[in-house]
Amino acid sequence: MTAQPLAPVRRLAVMTSGGDAPGMNSCIRAVVRYARHHGIETSGVCWGYEGLMDGKIVPLGARDVGGKLQEGGTLLKSARLPSFREPEVQARGVEILRRHGIDALAVIGGDGSLAGAAALSSHGFATIGIPASIDNDIAGTELAIGVDTALNTILEAIDRLRDTASSHGRVLIVETMGRDCGYLALMSGLTGGAEVIHVPEQRLELEEILAAVERGRARGKTHVLVTVAEGAEHKADAISEYIAARHEGYQPRVTILGHVQRGGRPTHFDRLLATRMGVRAVDTLMGGENGVMVGLQGGAMITVPLPEVVSGNRAATVDDYRLARILAQ
Ligand code: F6P
Repeated sequence: MTAQPLAPVRRLAVMTSGGDAPGMNSCIRAVVRYARHHGIETSGVCWGYEGLMDGKIVPLGARDVGGKLQEGGTLLKSARLPSFREPEVQARGVEILRRHGIDALAVIGGDGSLAGAAALSSHGFATIGIPASIDNDIAGTELAIGVDTALNTILEAIDRLRDTASSHGRVLIVETMGRDCGYLALMSGLTGGAEVIHVPEQRLELEEILAAVERGRARGKTHVLVTVAEGAEHKADAISEYIAARHEGYQPRVTILGHVQRGGRPTHFDRLLATRMGVRAVDTLMGGENGVMVGLQGGAMITVPLPEVVSGNRAATVDDYRLARILAQ
């Protein structure tokens, strides 16, 4: 159910929650400055839902968000609070927001954070979601804030790794983040020139991975790149051991990129996406709509009901997977 505010929004709070994503600061800045331009007072909830439960709500003015648009991370800090799934905890969260005079909340975060936003909305609190997660696993939007920057970081690492792998004639195996979603491994594999992409969405046996590596070598490639999503069935180390046990000369080397993918200056694309999503979130609230997430579909900003976001699955990008295989010849 979409909660309708009885009166126009007067005090809007903004929060970041879950894993941080580059561009969150650009979004906070846009929300705060655009809301203030329209006469809405703005506050920040620090440390996500955990901070909300501790009443860590501070006034947030135009100067507080200055000089941050280009910084990675989140100036509001972030946390994960599993107990926010409990309805009593959510109800207490609403009480705390109301006690602080807040009448609407913008939640910037990934699927868990948006589930929290949907819950607040179902408790009758005017809440809007803004998708931000490097994983790109959020239904209702083609891209989330942070994905572009993370992919650029991964590609820079792959390009560097290719130099050294090529010099030694090695197989390089790169593990990306993404939880249960293979988007980062798939897209960095497609644009980084991977011979093999191993993601949770596409079953691939170790023998098939080896066969693809062997095909690459047989074609005269000086290096062979395998991208592996952290949630894929076979881990990067297991793939490496399997290959090394059969071809000592391939000298596989594993690089687990880890949290380096989450940091760094947001790209132009992420700053723009974050800015536009922040503005659209405020416009949506001012228009009397809430209980939705702002999303990007076919290049346009749209809104999607939060329950649909929470229950939906992002469509798998099978075409890109096929394309990457064709181009890996
Ligand atoms: O959801 C973002 C993400 O970076 C995932 O890709 C990864 O599995 C997880 O968060 C790591 O979480 P943490 O920062 O708590 O180790």
